[in-house]
Amino acid sequence: LEEGYEKTNKMFDEILPTLAKGDGWLDDQYFQYQGFWQPSIFVKGSMLIHQHFKPRPTDIILSTSPKCGTTWLRALIFAIINRNSYDFGENHPLLKSNPRDLVPLLERLIHEGGSASFLESLPSPRFLSSHLPFSLFPNSLTSSSASACRFVYIFRDPKDAFVSMWHFMNKLGAREGLPQLSLDDAFDLFRNGVSFYGPFWDHVLGFWKASLESPNKVLFLKYEDVKREPSVHVRKIAEFLDLPFSADEENEGIVEKIVNLCSFENLSNLDVNKIVREEKTRRYFASNSDFFRKGQVGDWINHLDTRNG
Ligand code: A3P
Repeated sequence: LEEGYEKTNKMFDEILPTLAKGDGWLDDQYFQYQGFWQPSIFVKGSMLIHQHFKPRPTDIILSTSPKCGTTWLRALIFAIINRNSYDFGENHPLLKSNPRDLVPLLERLIHEGGSASFLESLPSPRFLSSHLPFSLFPNSLTSSSASACRFVYIFRDPKDAFVSMWHFMNKLGAREGLPQLSLDDAFDLFRNGVSFYGPFWDHVLGFWKASLESPNKVLFLKYEDVKREPSVHVRKIAEFLDLPFSADEENEGIVEKIVNLCSFENLSNLDVNKIVREEKTRRYFASNSDFFRKGQVGDWINHLDTRNG
């Protein structure tokens, strides 16, 4: 471990026992760090980012609360920013890799190799994803600083995000031989803010406010809107990233090619995204297939009963 990392580790060891603990959604525990519930490994990730991540103004950070459309936006943004590097034929990386293998999670990557040097070795522009709440990012990344990054945030109806998370966690739990978490118990946890980087609404509000204050640094999208008008939003993302589509690209139908490449139907039917791992691997808890379920708006209606409020 690099010396700076040793220091952060020591600090983490001191802080962790002082944090409030809540039940996790699997057999883990969540800790309340700076107002947000998270597994201990991500508390450490947040601290490492705070102390060691060196932002660049060209960085693009896809920020999401889990289950709000991370996989989809990873694919869309990857396809937008790399549209001149790959054609849309059979060799496109999105046809061979799950989006998370092309767009790493910052709070996971910051651990790797025991120093930030890998992150620093990545060429600009770096495209990373993150579940970190806006307020947990150091000031150097956020809007008032010259090194501020660009954030694309995607929000989703919390009822759909909750149902998606409940299915996801129970799928992972079943594979680990863990008992299923009932919908009612999960709902109580979620409602009380005890979910991955919850409270959910605080996560959303942080980015919503930041997008109002700095619209050129934070783009706030809604899953439902992107689903309804994907082409409009692909253009919007490209403009936000200063990579608008040229007239030639429009004539060639590049926007539609990107939309089709990244659609739920296309991605979820690829061999690479059908992989189910029977065992937890060192790197990942979840399988590629776990990130594709229905991909629809309003599935909550099939799970949550509105009659009892
Ligand atoms: P559902 O469980 O409602 O189907 P995340 O990627 O943030 O983990 O979110 C997963 C959710 O996004 C799942 O929702 C998943 O089916 C959906 N999803 C994955 N890929 C998608 C795509 N290309 N288009 C639309 N939704 C997608």
